[in-house]
Formats: sequence, structure tokens, C-alpha cells
Amino acid sequence: MASSPLMGSTTVLVLLLTIFSSLQRSTVSSFEFQAGEVKGWVVPHANDSKLYNDWASENRFKVGDSIRFRYKKDSVMVVSEADYKKCNSTHPIFFSNTGNTVYHLDHSGSYYFISGVAEHCQRGQRMIVKVMASEDPSSRGGGTPPSSAPTLSLGPSKLVFFQFLLSSVAAYLF
Ligand SMILES: *[C@@H]1O[C@H](CO)[C@@H](O)[C@H](O)[C@H]1NC(C)=O
Ligand SMILES: *[C@@H]1O[C@H](CO)[C@@H](O)[C@H](O)[C@H]1NC(C)=O
Repeated sequence: MASSPLMGSTTVLVLLLTIFSSLQRSTVSSFEFQAGEVKGWVVPHANDSKLYNDWASENRFKVGDSIRFRYKKDSVMVVSEADYKKCNSTHPIFFSNTGNTVYHLDHSGSYYFISGVAEHCQRGQRMIVKVMASEDPSSRGGGTPPSSAPTLSLGPSKLVFFQFLLSSVAAYLF
């Protein structure tokens, strides 16, 4: 059986498809967002105080995703809804001031992010992120990807690996 070239190439193709689908799953399973995109995590301009909530509502977050915050001389906190409304930073659920913080969204529901600097928070450096459960059928994975979907997240090393695999198969078949 294994001596038949046709059987052999079928096996390689099946193997390739299996690898491809598992790669796809692993690249689609989580995504890292950048808070505020190129602006980073800063005090919004006075005419743009809803910057972060606008940004958050344009994106679809799901369990397993993360948000990177880039900032200088500032901090990022996760607080309760009540503390979010008052910009109260006295008892954060999470706090970081490293300048480059990756926050993992590990459960569904609402997350309340604020700057730890009260005045910054009041000027709009805060946002509510709503995270959907990954089983949500309307979440990405099945249908058309939303604008933020990681369509290009197949990293260079994986691509090289892929090209190698494809050329091996081509060499085997032809
Ligand atoms: C806010 O003001 C800045 C500078 O005055 C301007 O460049 C920007 O276009 C304004 N943005 C909005 C949304 O009005
Ligand atoms: C923040 O919350 C704490 C505890 O609930 C409270 O003692 C404090 O007065 C609050 N600060 C502000 C500015 O609301």
C-alpha cells in the first residue's frame, strides 16, 4: 500500500490539510488589539473625548483576545463600573504603569479601563470593552471576518514553513 505513489501523495496532502487547518485555528483563536491604534493610550484631544469608547465600539472583542496599551508617564487600570463612572482609582482590580501593558480578556462581559491619573480619566482616557463569549455564533471564525480580524496574522515563520511544505509536496508529486 505505502509503495503506491498515489497513496503516498494522498497521505501527504491529508497531512498538509490537517496542518493548515490547525494553523488557521491557532491564528484565529486570539487577537491582540492596540488601544487607540497609533495614538496609543493618551489623554484624548478636547474635541475627541469619546476616542476610546468609539474605538472600542468599532471592534469586536472575544474571550482570549488581549489589548496592548502603550503610554508614557501614565497608567492603566481595570475598575468596577461605579469607579469607572467616578474615575475613582483608589481600588483598582488591575493596575499597571510599565508603559507597555498587555491585558488579557479572559472572560466575557464588560471591562472598565481608566487611566490611573484622575484628571486624565475625566478628560476621556477611559473606555468600556465588551467581550463576547467565544461560543457566540455571531463571533468571528465562521462567517466574514470583521475589520479587525487577524487575516494577516500568519506570521513570517509560519509562512516560510508553509512554503517549505508546499514545495516538498510539489517535489513529491511531480
Ligand atoms: C480636533 O482638533 C484638532 C486640532 O484643533 C483637529 O486637528 C481635529 O481635526 C479635531 N478633531 C475633530 C474630531 O473635530
Ligand atoms: C473612591 O472610592 C473610595 C472607596 O469606595 C472612597 O472612599 C473615595 O471617597 C472615592 N473617591 C472618589 C474621588 O470618589
